[in-house]
Amino acid sequence: MDPGIRVQELNAWFGGTQALHDIGLEIPSRQVTAIIGPSGCGKSTFVRCLNRMHETLPNATVKGKVTISGLDIYGKGVSPVTVRRRIGMVFQKPNPFPTMSIYDNVAAGLKLNGFSNRRQLDEVVQRSLEGAALWDEVKDIMKKKSGASLSGGQQQRLCIARALAIEPEIMLMDEPASALDPISTSKIEDLIFQLKQQFTIVIVTHNMQQAARVADLTGFFLMGKLIELDKTEKMFTNPSDKRTEDYITGRFG
Ligand SMILES: Nc1ncnc2c1ncn2[C@@H]1O[C@H](COP(=O)(O)OP(=O)(O)O)[C@@H](O)[C@H]1O
Ligand SMILES: [Mg+2]
Repeated sequence: MDPGIRVQELNAWFGGTQALHDIGLEIPSRQVTAIIGPSGCGKSTFVRCLNRMHETLPNATVKGKVTISGLDIYGKGVSPVTVRRRIGMVFQKPNPFPTMSIYDNVAAGLKLNGFSNRRQLDEVVQRSLEGAALWDEVKDIMKKKSGASLSGGQQQRLCIARALAIEPEIMLMDEPASALDPISTSKIEDLIFQLKQQFTIVIVTHNMQQAARVADLTGFFLMGKLIELDKTEKMFTNPSDKRTEDYITGRFG
């Protein structure tokens, strides 16, 4: 197996409080790995450690090794900005740039990187919006309407398009559908299924049915520890650890 992401002895803190304890796992490339577990168990902290976002929070520290296609992202001299360019992230609450047009939302990252050729920008914007299953809905309005004018589900797909535009290898999604209605949720789930042909996807979800539907692998976290990570089907039918079984059968959490 070619690990898209290898995590070794990862520990993370907020001030003196340890949020992650000795996490070790391998996330296969071009598959979907879901992270589940009760609120506060460290799911968001974990994914933020995968693109060096954790360290941007006040008093937050991290120790350990995260390797992405052979690059130790916490290695000496590795720039967090470069790391974040290779790893797209989508959050629970869609966060388009509200005053920018739909087009500019998608083009923003490229423009920041000095990309200015109109025709190439048009191409990337179209490809990204198509990749996020939003193109047909916005192609006639994307230069006039703002990101904020879209529905919640469309805004989330716009955020996915914005992440796709910088051509990342990995997409991190922290509860990307939990603020959305069921139809928008199912569109996002279909989209995840498409995207995994090209990207390594890590999705945090508190919705176990969602994990069962979209994920190839599922990892269960509890109190900052990884309890187990296995094929989704096994996790939901025959987990190895009693605590996983208790959680998925609704005995706590
Ligand atoms: N910005 C923060 N400052 C201090 N503590 C935090 C912060 N964010 C999260 N925590 C704490 O870290 C632990 C893990 O939180 P989090 O990763 O958000 O869990 P989850 O995403 O599974 O709900 C919790 O105990 C939470 O209270
Ligand atoms: Mg969270």
